[in-house]
Amino acid sequence: MGYKILFLGDICGEAGRKALAKGIKILKNKYQPDFIIANGENSAGGFGITPKIAEELFSLGIDCITLGDHSFDRKEIIPYLEKEKNIIRPLNYPFGTPGKGVYLTKKSEKPVIVINLIGRVFMKPVDCPFRRIDEELTKMNEKGIIIIDFHAEATAEKKAMGYFLDGRVSAVLGTHTHIPTADEEILSKGTAYITDVGMCGAINSVLGMKIEDSLKRLLYGINYRLNPADSDFKIEGVLIEINLSTYKAEKIERICEKYLNFDSVPS
Ligand SMILES: [Fe+2]
Ligand SMILES: [Fe+2]
Repeated sequence: MGYKILFLGDICGEAGRKALAKGIKILKNKYQPDFIIANGENSAGGFGITPKIAEELFSLGIDCITLGDHSFDRKEIIPYLEKEKNIIRPLNYPFGTPGKGVYLTKKSEKPVIVINLIGRVFMKPVDCPFRRIDEELTKMNEKGIIIIDFHAEATAEKKAMGYFLDGRVSAVLGTHTHIPTADEEILSKGTAYITDVGMCGAINSVLGMKIEDSLKRLLYGINYRLNPADSDFKIEGVLIEINLSTYKAEKIERICEKYLNFDSVPS
């Protein structure tokens, strides 16, 4: 039996948090993960994360939180990112940016290393994610399971990263677009790959946000405030299984749990 990692997509607002508060027990029973990673960049009202919310997510059993372009939307997270080791922001932000991009734990007998990266195509300029991760992996002494959350917009950039890191890491998992893709696979040198794992939040929404807010922006070109939708919810992500002798992936499976309201979750 391999080491099972449950990786959950961007947690979007209260619906995403409630979804996990209710659904994580079901996921744990169903998939028996050894380690849980979740992207928390939208967990505070759709924009950023606060220390209180991070603590809430850890208390549900999430072992590591990754972030993305919304890492610093809530400024109160900055000192927390400096001291708390289980929450990481993209590694390829410029040197000197608060927080860290790599998390290493010895929760199991084998180390689990989680690295967050962010893309540059159709996104704000940052350091090159390819060169930055290459440098990081080259200097890394520790051998273990390495999971990359590549938070990026362009499918081509994500796919290219999968091939770039094939055989050097256990998994390259895409986040940020909030829409799961159907291209999960084990690449030829043993790295699990998917372009986007999806999100945890409202089903009837535009990427987790209220449909009417999103439509107003698109119809009138005015930057109306986007508020997270909360009518119903889903949990999306992937379950991967890693061989503990080779650290290569043996399996990647998309998961999706949908509930029409919070009371419909089976206990
Ligand atoms: Fe994002
Ligand atoms: Fe997001």
